[in-house]
Amino acid sequence: MPEIVHDPDRMRALIVEARAAGRRVGFVPTMGALHAGHASLVARAAAGCDDVAVSIFVNPTQFGPQEDFARYPRTLSADAVVLEPHGVRWIYAPEVAAVYPPGDTTRIVVGGPAVPLEGERRPGHFDGVATVVCKLFLTVPADAAYFGAKDWQQTLVVRRMVRDLGLPIEIVVCPTVREADGLAMSSRNAYLSAGDRLRAVALSESLRQAEQLWIAGAAPTAIEQTMRDTMERHGIVVDYAVLADPESLDPLTDHAIRAVALVAGRLGSTRLIDNRELCGRGASAADNTPEPGPAPEQGQAR
Ligand code: PAJ
Repeated sequence: MPEIVHDPDRMRALIVEARAAGRRVGFVPTMGALHAGHASLVARAAAGCDDVAVSIFVNPTQFGPQEDFARYPRTLSADAVVLEPHGVRWIYAPEVAAVYPPGDTTRIVVGGPAVPLEGERRPGHFDGVATVVCKLFLTVPADAAYFGAKDWQQTLVVRRMVRDLGLPIEIVVCPTVREADGLAMSSRNAYLSAGDRLRAVALSESLRQAEQLWIAGAAPTAIEQTMRDTMERHGIVVDYAVLADPESLDPLTDHAIRAVALVAGRLGSTRLIDNRELCGRGASAADNTPEPGPAPEQGQAR
């Protein structure tokens, strides 16, 4: 079983010691309630590193006052069982007070890709994400950290922070893992009623349609409308359904050949997000299909 470490000083010492011994350390930050999406990041880390650390920390500063911090699933012992077969060496599971000392007032505000979409709808969310990821990188000073393309905007925010602060860590983005019907795996899927679980397929379905229309050369506004219609037809309350530049999240320029389609919507009280990178417009798909996920910020390894 992985060793569960609560104390930040001990965690840092273990990572420093492993790296001093010449071992490459991979790090997967999570909030727990682990599923196959998380496991895919851990497997990727294990394939590329000698040792893997996984953090499990439900980060209060990235939840809004009306959001699900209190009810977010906390399943540490089940999570340890998920991680065991991957050979994870350490689980870092700090107390809130060890991450945020009482009276703490410091936040990292990224700007740029953190501003639109989730940034607009969830004020302070990416400040909380950037702050905790930076703190985690200080306590788990790994060679590389692994993130999911499922949270596309989050990967852009983390990359931008790493570049702007010059943090010495490589960021690796891994593809979204989906259920058989296409729904992106998420810890929040557990909140869905049976009926809403069926309707939730409309998020990924709208993205699949977006890709087909994109390849066929449809106008971005028409594609956005189709995504919105598909979601609404399934009873999803659409928060956004947009096409944007995959690196900046700016609106698309005319003749763009790459884009990302991003959707967010509510089923009952559960808010889900998903996205899909769109390639294959104006050129053969093979020319435009690199690794999944946003390209690294300049000077940053993938
Ligand atoms: P969490 O939602 O637990 O996700 C942890 C990591 O797993 C993130 O990088 C996320 O993108 C990835 N992930 C989630 N579902 C996935 C899926 N279906 N396929 C592939 N990867 C998936 O994201 C967070 O936690 C937090 O914001 C965190 C970065 C830990 C900071 O608190």
